[in-house]
Formats: sequence, C-alpha cells, structure tokens
Amino acid sequence: MHDEEDSNDSQNPSIDDVVHARLRRRQFLLASAGAIAAAGLGPLPLAGCAPGGPRGTDSARAGVPALGFEPVAKSLADDFVVPPGYTARVLIAVGDPLFADVPDYRDDGDNPDYTRRCGDWHDGMEYFGLSADGGPAPAASDRALLAINHEWVSSVFLHRDGAAAVPRPAVEVDAEIAAMGVSVVEIAKDAEGRLAYVRESAFNRRVTTLTPVELAGPLRGHPKLRTLYSPDGTRTRGTVNNCGTGKTPWGTLLTGEENWVSFFARDAEDADRRSEAENYALARYGRPPGTTQTYRWDSAPGNADRHRRWNTSVTGTSADGGDDYRHEIHGQGYMTEIDPYDPASAVHKRTALGRFAHEGAAFSRPESGKPLAVYMGDDARGEYIYKFVSNSRWDPADADAADRMAVGAKYLDSGTLYAARFDEDGGGEWLPLNLDNPAVAGCERYPFADNGDVLLHARIAADAAGATRMDRPEWSSVNPANGDVYITLTNNSSRRLGGSDDGSDGTLGVDSANPRAYEDRREDSSTLQRGNVNGHIVRMAEDGAASTSFRWDIYLFGAESDADASRINLSGLTAEQDFSGPDGIGFGGGTDIFWIRTDDSAMTDRSNAMMLAAAPGQQGDGGALELDHGEAKVVTHLGARPRMNELKRFLVGPVDQELTGLAETPDGRALFVNVQHPGLGTPADSAARPERYTSHWPGNMGYGPGGERARPRSATVMITRDDGGKIGG
Ligand code: FEO
Ligand code: CA
Ligand code: CA
Repeated sequence: MHDEEDSNDSQNPSIDDVVHARLRRRQFLLASAGAIAAAGLGPLPLAGCAPGGPRGTDSARAGVPALGFEPVAKSLADDFVVPPGYTARVLIAVGDPLFADVPDYRDDGDNPDYTRRCGDWHDGMEYFGLSADGGPAPAASDRALLAINHEWVSSVFLHRDGAAAVPRPAVEVDAEIAAMGVSVVEIAKDAEGRLAYVRESAFNRRVTTLTPVELAGPLRGHPKLRTLYSPDGTRTRGTVNNCGTGKTPWGTLLTGEENWVSFFARDAEDADRRSEAENYALARYGRPPGTTQTYRWDSAPGNADRHRRWNTSVTGTSADGGDDYRHEIHGQGYMTEIDPYDPASAVHKRTALGRFAHEGAAFSRPESGKPLAVYMGDDARGEYIYKFVSNSRWDPADADAADRMAVGAKYLDSGTLYAARFDEDGGGEWLPLNLDNPAVAGCERYPFADNGDVLLHARIAADAAGATRMDRPEWSSVNPANGDVYITLTNNSSRRLGGSDDGSDGTLGVDSANPRAYEDRREDSSTLQRGNVNGHIVRMAEDGAASTSFRWDIYLFGAESDADASRINLSGLTAEQDFSGPDGIGFGGGTDIFWIRTDDSAMTDRSNAMMLAAAPGQQGDGGALELDHGEAKVVTHLGARPRMNELKRFLVGPVDQELTGLAETPDGRALFVNVQHPGLGTPADSAARPERYTSHWPGNMGYGPGGERARPRSATVMITRDDGGKIGG
C-alpha cells in the first residue's frame, strides 16, 4: 500500500551535508575517479557499463542458486503469469471459511462473520511446519500452518453495496474490524497429494483488530498506556494494519503494525487538552488535531466502546487517562508475537522493539551464547532503519521449547533499540535509543519521561540521535548464507536534487545511501513522478549481532531498463530484470533464492506488480560509484550488477495488486505468495457494476464463484513445478 505519510519534520540533518563536509576534509576531487580510488573507496565503476561490470567476470559463482527458469515478460494482463513448466493455484482467498460450519464465500458481498473467515488484503506470511501428531515440525513439507497478515480492507467489495456513507453502519464497521489482523490456516496434502487449506482444522485462528492483547516489555503498565479498557496499562485490543512479518528462531510469528496511525481520529479541539510535548509527539507520528479515522469506524451510531476507541482524543476528566481513549493510539505500532501452534495462546506486543510503522522483522543468524539482533524498517518518507539487540544470549535449546511465548519474553522483552546512521565512506553506526545516549536524554523538543517513553516515541529518539532519513524502509531480510542484512527502500517522492537537509520545506536532498532523485513520466498519462521513483535495496554487513557499526552498499536500484544508465538504471537492469517499488523481500526457507516483490505505481504503465528471483552476492562485491547530479555530486556504494543468471522476473500478478508475503515448503517444491488488493483502482461506488471492476482475479482463473465478472479477492497462491522439482532450479 502506498504510504504518503511524511511526518518527519525533525531538524535532523540529512547526511548530504555530512557527505560533503567529509569530502571536503579529505580533499576529494569528485570529478576524478583516480582520487576516489586513491582515497580507499575502491574501484569506480563507470555508470552504464554492462551488467556484471563491477565484478568484471561473467563466470558463475559458487554457492549461489542457479536460476534455471525462463524469465517472465512484463505483463498488464489480469492474470497470474508464471514461467513455462510452472503452475499457480489459489490456496485461500478473502472470505473463505476457516471453520466447518461457516457458509461458503459468496460473490455478492453477503458473507457474515469475518471473525471466522480468511481476512482481506493478504500481506506478510510465514510457514510453520506441523507434524502428523500436531506438534511443531520445522522440516515438514506436507503439513503446516500459514500465518497471514491482513493489512487493510477493500470496502467496495467487502459489503454487498460497497461502503455506506458516514455515519458508517455498525454492521459494516464490525465486518471491517474483523476482516483485518492475522489468519492462521492449516494446509495439508489432499486426496490428490496436493497441498490445500484445511477448512475444519482445529489450528485455524483469526486475530482481529479487536482481539484482547497483552502489552509486554518495558511499556507494560506504563502510565502512557492507561486507557478506559485497561486502567493499569497492561492490555489493549487488536493488532492493526499488519504488514510485514518475521519468524522467530523459536517458531512463532512476529506481525508488524504499519499504518496504525491512520486508524485513530483526533478532534480539532484536542490540541487544547494536551501539553505541548504531547501535541508535538502526536504530530510527529502523523496525528495532528483534526484528523479522521481512515474508515470512519468511530462514526458508527451508538458510540459503542469498540467503535469509540478509534477516536484517541481526550474526553474524560482524569489526570491519568484511565477514563477515556486519549492513550489508545499508544497501544498500536509494535512488533506483535503470536504462537501459531496454540490457537488459545495470548497475543503479546513486544514493546522493546519500539513503536513506529513496522514492516518486517529479520533475525540475525542465531549463535549460541550471543545476543539476537532483529532488523526492522519504518515505512514512511524520511524514516529510519532500526535494530533491536536482545539482552539474553541465545540458547539453542530454546528453539524447541514447549512454552514459545515464554521464550519470546526472554529474548524480546529486554534489550537495546538502535537506529542506523549511514556514512558516505560505506560505514555506518547503530545509534542507541535510550537515556544513556546524551543526544536522546537531551532532546528538547520532546523531553522523554523514561526509557519506556523513548520506545513509545522511537522516531523522536532517532531524530535526536542523528539517524539517516531513508527512502521509506520496507521489509528486511537476512541472508542465511552469510548474514548480510537487506532492507527495501520502496520509493520517496520527497527526494530532490538540491532538496533540504532537514525536510523543513517538504523535500530531502540526495545523500550517499539515498542517492537518486529524478523524474519519470508514465506512458499512459501526463503524470510526472519525482524523487526516488523506483526505489532501491540497501545491504549491510556487520561483525556479529551486537555490533554497533556496519558496512553497507546498495544491492540493487529499481529502474526501467531503458532509463538513463548514468543516473537511474545504475544496476544495469535488462528488460527481463527491470522492476520498480521493491517491498517484500526474503529467503523462503526451502530454496536458496532471494525473492523480491514489488508494490509499485511508477512502472505500472508497463507491467503489473511482480516478483523476481535473485541470487545475491555479498556486501562489498561492487564498488564506489560517483553520481554527477550537477551541483549535487554524490558518492554511493553499489553492489555487483546482476547478471542474467542472478536476477530474473519469476511472475507477474493481476491488475491493481501488489505481491506481498512469501513462504516455501522446506523441500523447496512449493512456493506460496500473497496477492494483495487486486482491482484496487475500482471506483468506490461500483460494487453493483462488475464492468467497472479493474480486476476479476481470481474468479477469472476459476477460483471461487463469479467467473469473469467476479469481485476481485486478495489471496494466497501456491506455485509448483509441473515436474515436481525444486522451485527456480
Ligand atoms: Fe504495508 Fe509499507 O507496506
Ligand atoms: Ca516510466
Ligand atoms: Ca509493504
């Protein structure tokens, strides 16, 4: 989902000025390749040289997967296109029953009780192997649980006649509240030996935006979490806007709460009832006074508690907030842990990992006796990349512990949260976000009450610490082969040549880690897109999970293959490789392939959103690259340009969707990928007019009712090879 939030108005410098200060200090001659090489920045590849240029050889590398499939061409069809020799089948779609007594999904929008059906807007997904007797079996490929995030809802298709006007009818609001959150679904081999979802499984579970949830970690019982629902600040309800995921080394799900801010209304007059610091903090997180709830859930007649909670204004008279929902917005924005193997288990928000617009959570490779690290992105323009380091040191026995939520508490309830500063020399620092850091303790714009308050307002702490403002950090992933950390930077419409250092005028100048700003005109309209239009993927390497420094490069720049190779298509992408808007990324656990999914609106005049297969090398396998932007020359660090056998388009999805979550069976013979919001461009008043739907997928490929005129549905797709072989090989 495209996020236009842009509330980082900190005076925090962009690293652009740091770059140039250092370059001046080192007396770099930016126009001179020799000077850069002499200064230790390594080889200077010439922009526009052939793919594979920086590595200088075309031989296959050892230890990387062979991408043996035929690449898929870009496509604008309302179809799901996979390579020859592969078959894609829908496994489960929004509205499908999760319990035996729930009626089949209907195409007319009349599907009661979403607390017992698969939710909408499939997003992040993780695979949890299941043994024949119903216990955890990480290596099992014939039976498993899939945990699926549901980020938003498509109101136009969720209700028979689309969404009614404000005040929203309670019956519609309650359907939407229930259709978001997380689904846990059992899959097992059917009579034909093919994996299918198990409708009557006792493991099936829905967690919604109304499910009771425990607050865990430093913010449990914090004064700023007290609400009418939980006067002692230990609980809240629901997990909201679930986007990326993580899988813990002990077999539980971490679900990221992303654009939860927009789920809270704030009255215009609320500003007068708050302190200056509170008003600043709410605005910094994107909730100035006079903002409405995205779906207007708070407008349902009757002011029922489950609807009223979505307005986070001060309405009570208490000093501590225990008589209203002024603190309700503090209950969202976390990495939230769910044990998929126990449908009755309590859900815990791991507040030590900070509160921001969470995407995925990627764990460092566990090492016995060493702390665990979790790498995370905050998806809004100019926000930061974070790392959490556990206080507890990894005990391999915990991977098989029976009480998985107790293990979660052990590793995720105490530790240190850091934000990343990227330096122009290819190094970087992890900046601690706690009151031991003088820059955080001395923050004048928001005086932190305690370390819990720092986690609650991690963005403000990262501003104060001097972290680098990035181009919308999305998912994170750790390469199991070498520990490299990958984070997608999906795009940034605010990035400008000559933009400001501090975001104060709504722009951000280019810098070493976010070095592109350009214009792109769509072929199908006059729309001019500006900034970092196509996104990039940054890569970090560090010496152990607890390291406070790292080395970085840019693994890939998204671009159209025919774009200017000296300023835009810096990775030298070919027509079989070009992409835009990298979002979901990761290794699936069965093959060795690194999968890149796109959430794009920039290149959609040429192709629907897609997934590519990659065989990445390692941080530092390319070299320094000078970008001559005229007055703003920037040195960045580019990974080896991908050869054809190292990056290929594997699939293209239907119209108006994005490819999101991904999982693989451990044997690598089945791949699962989520399709989110097909038909998103359908006008809101078109529920009764199928001819206006921009997609009819997956009804048009024979899944569920409706056929060629079906309402489009978010869904999980399973891909297998017709010869039964390993995916991608
Ligand atoms: Fe939910 Fe940032 O994508
Ligand atoms: Ca274009
Ligand atoms: Ca995303």
